[in-house]
Amino acid sequence: MAPLIPQIMMHPEGPQVSQMVFGTWRLCNTNGWEDDQSLATPQSVLERIEACISLGITTFDLADIYGGYRYEKVFGDGLALKPELREKIQLITKTGIKVPSDAWSEKVEVNHYDTTFEHIVSQVEKSLTYLRTSYIDVLLIHRPDFLMDADEVAKAMIHLKDSGKVKYFGVSNHTVSQMELLQSRLPFPLVTNQIEFSPSCLDGMFDGTLDYAQKTRAKPMCWSPLGGGALLGSSSDPKVQRLQKACKAVGDSFSPALPLDLVAYAFLLRHPTKPVIVLGTNKIERLKSVATLFDRNITLSRQQWYSIWEASKGHSVP
Ligand SMILES: NC(=O)c1ccc[n+]([C@@H]2O[C@H](COP(=O)([O-])OP(=O)(O)OC[C@H]3O[C@@H](n4cnc5c(N)ncnc54)[C@H](OP(=O)(O)O)[C@@H]3O)[C@@H](O)[C@H]2O)c1
Repeated sequence: MAPLIPQIMMHPEGPQVSQMVFGTWRLCNTNGWEDDQSLATPQSVLERIEACISLGITTFDLADIYGGYRYEKVFGDGLALKPELREKIQLITKTGIKVPSDAWSEKVEVNHYDTTFEHIVSQVEKSLTYLRTSYIDVLLIHRPDFLMDADEVAKAMIHLKDSGKVKYFGVSNHTVSQMELLQSRLPFPLVTNQIEFSPSCLDGMFDGTLDYAQKTRAKPMCWSPLGGGALLGSSSDPKVQRLQKACKAVGDSFSPALPLDLVAYAFLLRHPTKPVIVLGTNKIERLKSVATLFDRNITLSRQQWYSIWEASKGHSVP
């Protein structure tokens, strides 16, 4: 069967990525923090990489900090079982968050952000080693550093691009003005802003982030598209209950009915920025189910889309 998940341009100048991306925050766990050893073996990681590729999910979202600065290596160890796969996939990683860990040679006592030239460049060197690759496809600054010196971040990015170690750059969780500031110092475009965007988190529609994405044609990446899974479980939160009811009604209007997770993805995909969705599941069956969205050409109508918007906000549009 041909891969179902489409390849798209993240930005008109590149890179080409898959519309749905495999996220690795939970690479070895299901609750965000505790490892399940069965998920941590190189073979298990390779199985997920190969399942993704067969479905058309060729892009993988990583970060230096995931798994307490360990998951890039766990991923790289899996990839190392079949190094020839490297050229078939795109690796996105992030840096800039520094929390206490034995990953550092110096004492780190305070959670902080570090976007100095030295930190960005040395973390990329580590990422390259752990991921067993000579280049990163896209490097994101993970969180806006309140001490960001845009000239210095730009210097690091230009240095990494010129050395061929990173092909493209973007940011994550940045405001429009922070992104504009950094962009003003760069001779190439920032290709994405990875933000929280889901039926339960519509902030990007109100803070200008998604308008700016449309303006610059830099497709946003959506993290926690299912609200970290909260959208799917039983909940006493009225907002979650409203969303589950609205998403179920939308899902039931298709034949066969769409499950809640696919309705949530369809809601995001209906946005005119055509976002790139970072999936959080580790389950191959769920990844296969995501592919059916594209096989069935599912598109929400305006009214279906607004019924979910209304459930999220708790009121109809003014
Ligand atoms: N840039 C940032 O600051 C930032 C922040 C957070 C996350 N991220 C990225 O975004 C990725 C996705 O975030 P996320 O993990 O929070 O995504 P999510 O999709 O909102 O949540 C994933 C959770 O939902 C569960 N789940 C998925 N499908 C389900 C279904 N059909 N039924 C029941 N449970 C289901 C998963 O469990 P199963 O494994 O059991 O399916 C997993 O525990 C991360 O891996 C990371 O790459 C980035």
